[in-house]
Amino acid sequence: MYDLIIIGGGPAGYNAAERAAHNGLKTLLVEKKSLGGVCLNEGCIPTKTLLYSAKIYDYAKYGGDYGVSFQGAEIDHSFVIDRKDKIVKSLVSGIASKLKKAKAEVINGAAFIKGRDENGFNIEVSGRIYSGKYLLICTGSEAVAPPVPGIKEGVADNFCLTNREILSLKEVPGSLAVIGGGVIGLEMASYFNSIGSKVTVIEMLDKIGGYIDGEIADILYKNYVKKGVEFKLGAKVTAIKNNIVVYESGGKVSELKTDKVLVSVGRRASTQNLGLENINVLTERGAIITDDYGRTSAANVYAAGDVNGKSMLAHTAYREGEVCVNNILGIKDRVNYNSVPSVIYTNPEVAGVGETTESVKQKGLAANIHSFSLKYSGRYIAENSSGDGIVKIITEKNTGNIIGLHIIGSYASEIIYGAAMMIGTKMRFEDVQKIVFPHPTVCEVIREGCFMI
Ligand code: NAI
Repeated sequence: MYDLIIIGGGPAGYNAAERAAHNGLKTLLVEKKSLGGVCLNEGCIPTKTLLYSAKIYDYAKYGGDYGVSFQGAEIDHSFVIDRKDKIVKSLVSGIASKLKKAKAEVINGAAFIKGRDENGFNIEVSGRIYSGKYLLICTGSEAVAPPVPGIKEGVADNFCLTNREILSLKEVPGSLAVIGGGVIGLEMASYFNSIGSKVTVIEMLDKIGGYIDGEIADILYKNYVKKGVEFKLGAKVTAIKNNIVVYESGGKVSELKTDKVLVSVGRRASTQNLGLENINVLTERGAIITDDYGRTSAANVYAAGDVNGKSMLAHTAYREGEVCVNNILGIKDRVNYNSVPSVIYTNPEVAGVGETTESVKQKGLAANIHSFSLKYSGRYIAENSSGDGIVKIITEKNTGNIIGLHIIGSYASEIIYGAAMMIGTKMRFEDVQKIVFPHPTVCEVIREGCFMI
């Protein structure tokens, strides 16, 4: 009999298992594939290894702007893929040893919830029943296949790829069509553009980057147009046939011939074939309904990570898993969804937290919105010959509280946690003025900006 059974060993599940076991709960983690989930095996970490190789290759190609020239720089894509596989392998085994050290038990297999009785929850894995007092569901999400004729056949022919298959592609496609200009689409477009594919992004909306601030999305768009990526905005893919993507824009139907297609039109919670109905866990559009404490509609059943459909980010999943464990331990804890940062690892990087210009308008908030060029930073100028990065600070009119902060430019991914802290702790722009920032850094523009509000 376990205190806690966790289904799914991605960021939500493995982190929760470690915390729970560390705090004395007899914990069982069930994972059907590989520890680390999508993030480690076919998402965040693999893409970052690829993008880092592309960045070095770009440095080699464009070093001339900084007085450094390279002859015959080349990128070996299959080496990059092999290196990625080694990194993933070593991180997966790192998670296994961390869990072992914490004394969390891990079993490999698909879990099915049979029901609950006086012993608690009964979970079947490979024909054996395990019982637990509490249940934490962290089964993550899977790529959505849009209802477009020809997609199924395209996937079967290896012409249409998801985030999983594209990360193992051994050869560089001459041309790549990316359906969906969201986070996955843009990061992959960035990599394949850098290493020489002709990339076309087909996006249904009239802007890229989904929910990111419109002004920042526009700067990112212009950067990638300059790098040679073609965009079809306001364009909806309607069919896939042979080596052709058919899309419709403004009533006009066009065709694009391409070697490969990446389908990146969003993800949906993985709640199928789990047996949720056996314990009355309610879902909405396929995602498990949870409150800010991670509780589901069923007593003693918690859910964390992509499966709740709230944020679909690995770092939110970590926090949600911890919150669930704390509440199980009797320590009241909740997730503050207002200060979750998000990052797109393009070059330039994009990072943001809190309200955007668009969300302020939508919600009718009384706010001040200011944009500052990153050229206020000496370091930014030293390192970016022709950079057009900005930081955008959004403050509440009455209080001066910082409620949104968005950056496009170097180190954005590393800087943004500071802004998450400002928003999470309700700092006013006057408070930020009094903090000493290191010099010379790009993040100094945030402090400088707070004097210009
Ligand atoms: P997404 O939701 O970010 O973007 C999907 C895009 O596809 C949207 O812009 C949508 O308008 C467009 N679209 C939908 N149907 C279309 C059609 N028929 N034709 C053309 N465009 C269409 O989803 P994405 O990129 O697949 O990412 C999935 C999840 O993974 C996201 O929730 C994201 O947060 C997460 N992720 C996070 C990363 C990060 O934090 N850096 C990296 C990669 C993924």
